[in-house]
Formats: sequence, structure tokens, C-alpha cells
Amino acid sequence: MLAGVAYDVEAVRKHFPALDEGAAHFDGPGGSQVPDVVAEAVAATLVSAIANRGSVTTAERRADEIVRGARQAAADLVGGVPDGIVFGRSTTQLMYDFSRALGKNWAPGDEVVVTRLDHDANIRPWVQTGATVRWAGFDPVTGELPVEAVTSLLTDRTRLVAVTAASNLLGTRPDLPAIAAKVHEAGALFYVDGVHLTPHTPVDIAALGADFFGCSPYKFLGPHLGFVAASPALLDTLHPDKLAPSSDAVPERFELGTLPYELLAGTTAAIDFLAGLVPGEGDRRARLLGSMRALEEYEESMLRLLDNGLAELSGVTRYGSPTRRRTPTVLFSVDGVAPTDVYSGLAERGVNAPAGTFYAIECARHLGLGNTGAVRAGIAPYTTASDVNRLLEGVAALRNA
Ligand SMILES: Cc1ncc(COP(=O)(O)O)c(C=O)c1O
Repeated sequence: MLAGVAYDVEAVRKHFPALDEGAAHFDGPGGSQVPDVVAEAVAATLVSAIANRGSVTTAERRADEIVRGARQAAADLVGGVPDGIVFGRSTTQLMYDFSRALGKNWAPGDEVVVTRLDHDANIRPWVQTGATVRWAGFDPVTGELPVEAVTSLLTDRTRLVAVTAASNLLGTRPDLPAIAAKVHEAGALFYVDGVHLTPHTPVDIAALGADFFGCSPYKFLGPHLGFVAASPALLDTLHPDKLAPSSDAVPERFELGTLPYELLAGTTAAIDFLAGLVPGEGDRRARLLGSMRALEEYEESMLRLLDNGLAELSGVTRYGSPTRRRTPTVLFSVDGVAPTDVYSGLAERGVNAPAGTFYAIECARHLGLGNTGAVRAGIAPYTTASDVNRLLEGVAALRNA
């Protein structure tokens, strides 16, 4: 960030037509609202001449440029390389695809390590490979995932370790570089779920030590799809099932069928939008790092408001220690009120903060919340102090009702 450049939330909000509907959105961890420029890029692609990727007609070249542009943008966002970006329908779909491609090289007795902190998308596909599963638990009181909880499970049979970069339920950010060092010492691969982290902070997959890093543009102001970032050399060692005539090049080898060109154009637009959240200089990667740092600082200020406000309300339970390193996501419940009633009561007041387990079913159960979960409030790039106050007033009223 340029010294002294402040994050201007009102200027950012002007780009989100959906906010004119008036709700205070704390549902960002489920999917963010979308800026006008992203919708325009999607629409422009759909009404332009377009064909399958190629180099003969303008329409073919347009499709090709969109794909290459989106790979470059995604690589800039996470610090990867364009030929290491694999696009797919969703992160869940890609995790299933990669679990199959990796798992077919594993022998009986080979092991995977998964955590109870993760979204099920980074658990079940690995469990269903048939590998022997070792489960890492987290501390249900603090919400922390200690490094040793994962690394103590490594053996000479470990093939892969799957850990979230941030819990979509608690926001907890495990110490990935420390885990990665041990995973690699053991000769295993490290599959990181970056879906919940990527919208909130600068990401550098090499610094995190991730061999695979998955994320979903619809969580960071883009359209509904997913991508995985990896090194092209690693991708080249894998041979997923594919059609006979489809390309065997990396990364196309992993992309089944025709790519959604309009969504890829929207993804590039979303990443460009993120790069421009605050004024910056240099190439897109440099501007992204500055913007995401400014966004992180702003979101943390909103998180403090929310944390402090909830702490003042008796009868409200928050999960995990507030001092954890975490994304601006809060999980809470109101004593004596079902989470779904808090959710609907807030919705009646124009505050969108859903309740549930959000597919982090192991995490919810480990917290003692069973299959019901709790209420989740996530800060997004368009969240204001007034939104936070609306949420706090709503919770206070429901508590007294
Ligand atoms: C942490 C995390 N991982 C994975 C996913 C699944 O992403 P997708 O909907 O793209 O499959 C989600 C979605 O909520 C998530 O929050």
C-alpha cells in the first residue's frame, strides 16, 4: 500500500448494484456480492463473437485470449504461474478431480492427513480415495490448529496432507509454512484449501508452501467457478482420466470439456477490481499485494468493532479465541435462541448472517455444535461500521425478545 492511502469503503460500495437493495451483507463467506465491472465483463463476453479456442477466426482468438488472460490474473492473485492454473466448475469439483488423479498412484496402506478444521471439500474427497486416513483435531476452545496436531501424524506412508488456509467457520489461519516444511520433509504433498483465505489477504503460494492451492472466485467478488494453482512440473506428473481427443497439455489436461469463457472474463475483471481497491503502482501483482494489504487492515478494523460489540452483549457465545490469527469471520450463538431463529430474525431486520455448519461439518461437530452449527458473520470489502452496528442491534434485540 502507498503510505497514507486509505481504504475508501464508500467508493468501493458504489460499484455494487446489489447493495442498493439495502441489506447489510455478512454472508460473504458463502459468496460475495459482485461489482458492476465483473457483470459487464461477463455480459460483454456473451454478446461478443466467440468460438472454441483457436487462432484462425477473431471469435476463436477471443476465447483463447480470455483463457490466457484469466490464467495470468489468477496467477497474479496467488503468486503462481499461468500454466499452473487449472480452472473448474468449483473448488469441490476440482478437489474430487485431483483426489482421483493423485489417488490412482497410491498403494494400499498409503496415508492421507486431513483436519477437523476443514470444509468437507478438503476432507471427503481424500477420505474416499480409500487411503488410510489420519485425522488432525483442533483445540475446540481456542479454535487453533497446532502445527504438531498435523505434523505428529506424518509417517513414511503419508502421501498427502490436506489443510485449510483459513477455516470458513471460525476464520482460524493455521501456520501453513511450518506445516508445509514437515510435510515436505516427509516426502508428502500439501493440498491447501485457500477458498476462505484468498478474499481477505495477500496470498503467496510459494511462501505458504502449498503444492496445490484451491480457491473460488465467487468468494472474492467474481463469478461462480473454482481454480487450483500448482507448479506445471507437478501437474505434468499427474494423468487424470480424460477424453481421447482432448489436449494432454498442462494445464488443459485437467480441464474437462469447454471452459466457461464468460466466467473466466469475469474472474479477470474481479481480480483487476481487487488490484484497484486502493490507488497503487507497478504491475498487477504488485498492486494486488498493496490492495489486499489495505483491505486486510480495513476488514480487521471492522472485525474489531464486531468483536468488541458482541463481547459487550451478555448471552452471546463466540467460538474460538478472539486473539487467534484469523480472517474477519465470527461464529456465534445467542443463549436460548436457535441459530436458525437468529438468522431469520436478523434477516427480518435486513441483516444477512446465515446459520449452519456451512459444510464444515467436522468442525461444527468438534466444537460441540453437532449438525446445527451456529450463526456466521463475515466481513467483506463492502462492509461498513453502520452494517456492523445494524448486526449488533439486531442480535441485542433478538437476545432480549
Ligand atoms: C473453505 C472452503 N472450502 C471449499 C469450499 C467449496 O467451494 P466451492 O463452492 O467452489 O466448491 C468452500 C465454500 O464455501 C469453502 O468455504
